[in-house]
Parts: sequence; structure tokens; C-alpha cells
Amino acid sequence: MVMEVFRIQGGNRLAGQVRVTGAKNSSLKLMAVALLATGKTTLRSVPNILDVTIMAELLRRLGCEVTYDSATEIAVIDVPEKIEHRADYDLVRRMRASIAVLGPLVARTGSADVALPGGDAIGSRGLDMHIAGLERMGAKVTNDHGYLVVHAPSTGLTGTQVYLDFPSVGATETLLTAAVLAKGKTVIDNAAREPEIVDICQMLVKMGAQIEGIGTSMLTVTGVAELNPVEHTTVPDRIVAGTWAVAATITQGDITVSNANPEHISLALDKLNSAGAHVSIVADGFRVTMDKRPKAVDIVTLPYPGFATDLQPQFIAMNSVAEGQAMVTENLFEARFRFVQELSRLGAEVRTDGHHALVRGKSHLSGAPVEATDIRAGAGLVLAGLVADGETVVHAVEHIDRGYVGFEQELARLGAKIVREKTQDFK
Ligand code: EPU
Repeated sequence: MVMEVFRIQGGNRLAGQVRVTGAKNSSLKLMAVALLATGKTTLRSVPNILDVTIMAELLRRLGCEVTYDSATEIAVIDVPEKIEHRADYDLVRRMRASIAVLGPLVARTGSADVALPGGDAIGSRGLDMHIAGLERMGAKVTNDHGYLVVHAPSTGLTGTQVYLDFPSVGATETLLTAAVLAKGKTVIDNAAREPEIVDICQMLVKMGAQIEGIGTSMLTVTGVAELNPVEHTTVPDRIVAGTWAVAATITQGDITVSNANPEHISLALDKLNSAGAHVSIVADGFRVTMDKRPKAVDIVTLPYPGFATDLQPQFIAMNSVAEGQAMVTENLFEARFRFVQELSRLGAEVRTDGHHALVRGKSHLSGAPVEATDIRAGAGLVLAGLVADGETVVHAVEHIDRGYVGFEQELARLGAKIVREKTQDFK
């Protein structure tokens, strides 16, 4: 099978400017939110990644007309009055974010048949909180031949109080999108507060939804009879921004990141500061400069505003070449340390035990072939490759492409020696 790899010669310092795209994890959800209103929704800053193509296809199968222009990054979704309610396995298995249609489908059509998702290989990712919340609102939920089948009563969903066991991003989105058209008031307590959730809330409010407590852990939604299509611009991708910040630090470089909100990654930037980098706020973004070997920094991943799990592998990569040792604790996805085995192939010294990884910084990593196991693991391996001696070949770059538009081109523009190549893999 012909696969693509990144071939990297380590050792170059990165310097220059990069502009961040809209957030993948917001855009995909905003596309699903469009289902809640009949008519034409226009979304801006939608990144040109495969998942957007998959979500567009999913919406088409539900009856929508969808156009996406990669040059302008504008997606237009024209939603008919009557939509289908089935999300097929062939699409859902390719993209776990397909579950974002669940709430809108139940709200709009009273039912949803959504294939149970697969998704990245980063641990079991249940749907129990999505299901319990919908049941509380009156829905009947069954698991039928690999599909989650949801039926609202004929009178529709009813507002209620839902307390999430954990501030799950996905469950908050499902319940929020189900509640906006439900009867009465829904309170989502212990809700996720990620900037992407705020983005969805802001679009919903523009559409006519009534939501209080946006950006807090208690969202109060008062259902309305209908919503209107709107124009909306996606929030900038804080994880991509954070990846550039680590890239500047690990390569002892100087990168100015624009279309970025430093407040969305303040904890990560503060950690880079502790590692010895200089972080300054500039118009429309921030700048990270570094002139020495970083110091290792402890991190603990937590729901927002805690340290983002999606930046954990990049920080492990940085710690692996830092001075000293650090403890990294992963609280969201149990299998996110799988990539450590790959990093070890470059000579990194990382020991894991359950939720913890102890990283001992080495003065040198040594280039080798490695394989990306998910988007962020891939980003972490590329960053490590940028500072490893000699050549690192990162396999399975299709994972990286799902979260970073033209990653290798941007890196090369900043001074990295990196090319994309086709290779023959035995698969
Ligand atoms: N969980 C449950 N039950 C539920 C829902 C979640 O047990 O009903 C567990 C999951 O198994 C997981 C944890 O809770 O261990 C976190 O799940 P959450 O619902 O918060 O995350 P998600 O919606 O599945 C989104 C992002 C992830 C990001 C997490 C955390 C999308 C498409 N994905 O996932 O992004 O890591 O929030 O911030 O928005 C990535 O971009 O690389 C990525 C994996």
C-alpha cells in the first residue's frame, strides 16, 4: 500500500510567523449545529482537513446541500425542512466527531440512528453521559446492531436538570444541542467549558437559542420553537497554536503565532515560560522565543481550563530533550501514552505507570523511523524529530493531516528540513 511519511533532518531552529486555522474540534461541531435550522448556514475559518470532508458527506446523506471552498475556508450548509436521521457506520467509523449530529438530529427529527463510533486509538471513549442525559430528557435509547437508536417522545424532549459525572466535551455538546429545541429549561451542571463549547454556544445564541452561563460549568438552556440559520466564524485552534509554541521552545527558535487567543492556552504558555521560553502577547496572537535548552516541566491534563490533553504528547516530546526530569499525568485518555513507545525509538527516556509518565530529559535524541498513532502523538513525534540527530521518518502522517493543515509546509517555511514522501508499506 502506498503511504505518506514525513522525512525530517533534525537540528534546525524554527523562526518566523504562522497563522492558525479555525479549530477542527469546533468547526466539525458547528457544521452539525447547522442541522438545527432550516436554510443556509455559512461557516468561516473551517480548516481544510479530511474530517471536514467526512462531516460534509454525513450532512449530505442527511439531506443537506453542502459546499466547501478550501481557498476561502468557507462552508455553506443548506438544510432542508425535512432531514434524515441516520449516520452510517462507514462515515462514523472514520470520524468519531460524527457523534456531534446526535443532539441536533434528536432535536430536529425526534429520532437518531447513529453508528457507534470508533475514532482515534486513544482509549475507550464512552457515550454513557450522552445517553443518560438524553434519557433524562425523555428519550428512549437502545443499542441496535451497532447503532445507537434514540427516540424522543411524540411531544418532543423535555428540559430537565442533568449533572455530568465528568465535564465531557462531547456529552455537553449533545445535551446542549438537544436542549435548545426542547420544551422548557435544561440545566447542564458540571458542563465542559472549552473555548470550542463557548463557540458553539455563541453560534446557537445567534441562531436564536436561549443559553445562560456560557463559559461556566453550569449551562441553562431554555428551549425555543425554532432556530434560524446564521453566519459564524470558527474560534482559532488553540491546540495548533500551542503546538507552534512548543515548536518554538523545543527548537530554541522564535515563532510569532497569529489568529491565536493566548488566553485559551494560558496554562500551556505559562509552562513554556517555566521551561525557560519567553512568551509575549502581540496583536492577534503571541510570540515565543527561546535561546537555551528547555527545563523539564510537570504537567497534569484536565478539562478546560486545565492543561489540554491534546497538548500532552508535544510537552512529553519537549521534556524528553529538556534539562532535568518531569512527571506528566494524563487524566483524560488512558491510552494517550501509547506514543511513548514510539518516542523511545528516538532514544527518549520515558517510563509510564498507569496515568503517569516520568520523563528524563536527554541531551540528544537520535533520529529513527516512528509511527504516529493519533493526531497529537503525530505532532509530538514530528517535534521530537525536529531536534533529533540525523533523520527521523514519521509514518502514518494521515493522522497528523487530520489536525494540522499543511503542517510540513509550514514547518519548512519556518526553517525545518522536512518533506512529505510516498512510501510502499506492507499493510
Ligand atoms: N467519556 C465517558 N463517557 C461519556 C463521554 C466521555 O466516559 O459519555 C470519557 C471518555 O471516554 C474520555 C473522557 O471522558 O476518556 C473525555 O471525553 P470528552 O467527551 O471530554 O472528549 P471528546 O468529546 O470525546 C473532545 C475532542 C478531543 C479532546 C477531548 C478533550 C473532538 C472531536 N474531540 O473529545 O480531541 O481530546 O475533547 O478535550 O472534539 C484531538 O483533537 O486530538 C482530540 C482527541
